[in-house]
Amino acid sequence: MTTLNDQVRAFWEAGACGTDAELARPFEKGSREWFEAIEENRYRLEPFIHGFVQFTRHRGKKILEVGVGAGTDHLQWARAGCECFGVDLTKEAIDTTAARLRLYGFHSTLQRVDAEHLPFPDESFDLVYSWGVIHHSERPEAIVAEIHRVLRPGGLFLGMLYNRRALVTLELWVRHALLVGRPWRSFRDVLWHHLESIGTKAYTGAEIARLFERFTAVESTPILTPYDTRRLPRPIAAMMPDTVGFFRTVRATK
Ligand SMILES: C[S@@+](CC[C@H](N)C(=O)[O-])C[C@H]1O[C@@H](n2cnc3c(N)ncnc32)[C@H](O)[C@@H]1O
Repeated sequence: MTTLNDQVRAFWEAGACGTDAELARPFEKGSREWFEAIEENRYRLEPFIHGFVQFTRHRGKKILEVGVGAGTDHLQWARAGCECFGVDLTKEAIDTTAARLRLYGFHSTLQRVDAEHLPFPDESFDLVYSWGVIHHSERPEAIVAEIHRVLRPGGLFLGMLYNRRALVTLELWVRHALLVGRPWRSFRDVLWHHLESIGTKAYTGAEIARLFERFTAVESTPILTPYDTRRLPRPIAAMMPDTVGFFRTVRATK
C-alpha cells in the first residue's frame, strides 16, 4: 500500500528543493557554478534566513538538520564550524547535499530516512534545524516529538513551517476554489492538494503552540515573503504586514 510519505518522497525525488531555479539552469548539475546560482537565488528570495538562524553563533555545536533538500543551509552550518548531521526523505537530497559539502571540503553525516523516526539516541544534539519540511510529512507531530527526543535538555530548535492565514494561501484558494466555482473548499484542503507535494499543511500561531507544547520558550513569528507579494503592485506589496506572510519561523527550547 502506498502511504502519503511514499507520495511525498516521489515528489521530492524528482528534484531537490530550489534546484529548478532559473539562475541555475545554464550550469551543469553538480558544478560549483550550479550550486552557487542555487545559493544566490535562495538568499535573494529568503534573506531573512541568516538573520533568524545566525549560523555563525552556533560554532562548535552538534547540529541535526531535518530535511536538508539541496543542502544550501546545510553548507552554512558546515561553514559556521558545526558538527553536522542531516537527514532527508529522498536519495536525491542526500546525494546532492553530500556532493555539495564535498565540493567545498566539508563533511556531514547524512542519511536518507523518514524523520518521523530519527535514527539517533535520546539527547544527541545541541540544536535541530528544519526549514520548510515538517508540514510536508504525513505526521508532523511525530517529527516534532522525535526532534524533542534527540535534543539535549536546554537544546534549541530553529525552523520554519507554513503560515495558513497568508497571501500565498489566499491566492491558491482564489485559483483552486473561488474561480472554479467551489468557494466552500477550505484553505486546508486547497493547500493539501495544490501546494508542492500532496498533503502539505500550514498552521496558525495557536496550532504551532500546540504542536510544540512539549518545548519551552516557543516563539513563532510570521514573515512576509516574496511568494506572498509577487503578483501585487509594488506600493501595495510594501503595505502588507508580516502577519499575512507565508512563513512562520519557530524557535523553541527543550
Ligand atoms: C521544501 S523542501 C525544503 C528543503 C530544505 N530544508 C530547504 O529549505 O531548501 C522539503 C524537503 O523535506 C523533505 N521531507 C519531507 N518529508 C520528510 C520526512 N518525513 N522526513 C525527512 N525529510 C522529509 C523532502 O524530501 C524535501 O527535501
